[in-house]
Amino acid sequence: MNNLPLLGKKAIVTSGPTYEPIDPVRFIGNRSSGKQGHAIAVELKNKGADVTLVTGPTGLNDPEGMKVIHIQSAKEMLNACEEAFPADILVCAAAVSDWGVDNPAHHKIKKDVDNPEAITITLTPNPDILKMLAHSDNRPKIVVGFAAETDDVIENAKLKLQRKGCDFIVANDVAEGTNTFGGDNNTVHIVDKDSVQSLSEMSKADVAKDLVQRIIERSS
Ligand code: CTP
Repeated sequence: MNNLPLLGKKAIVTSGPTYEPIDPVRFIGNRSSGKQGHAIAVELKNKGADVTLVTGPTGLNDPEGMKVIHIQSAKEMLNACEEAFPADILVCAAAVSDWGVDNPAHHKIKKDVDNPEAITITLTPNPDILKMLAHSDNRPKIVVGFAAETDDVIENAKLKLQRKGCDFIVANDVAEGTNTFGGDNNTVHIVDKDSVQSLSEMSKADVAKDLVQRIIERSS
């Protein structure tokens, strides 16, 4: 049996949240821990792939045996992915902020202590990294996206598969009361154009093993 079926393949994985700066001390972020994305990067490496992990700020140690690029904002994540291109496999597991702050301040925004007032922050759409890379001339052979949904999880995942041009979408339910963000376990549905596989609750490492096995089958 070939223990390293992905030897010679290059993989890029995005992971974690993005931080969109408001000023030098404040940002807009989200609750992604990076655990699922990092676990996928590790599993791809274990199967022989040459992995570049592009990650937002997380509390996790850098996995060994791969190139790790640390970024903050969505724009930085896109630039890092483009620099790492081309690749055979792209897995976008990051929770990318859909909006960034228009003209972040270069100095800390101060309030008027005697007369504090509301302020307005204008948000502008960020690039959709997954969609852009999946539709690029250099499209990797296998593209995997995630779908964090609170309602109609599978229906929304199928739409996202088509809209973003993915081979697989890993859909998870992030409705209130679920423990996906930050937890060690995940309950996911793996959606491709022909099927939906609903996996039982398992560790994020086991979700990564299941997904990478499907990537291996699809890439040979
Ligand atoms: N994604 C991305 N760039 C963005 C937004 C999302 O690369 N600017 C990727 C994520 O890494 C994930 C997938 O797109 O693989 C879906 O992310 P999700 O937040 O579920 O979907 P959105 O595109 O943001 O759509 P919506 O929030 O409307 O569900």
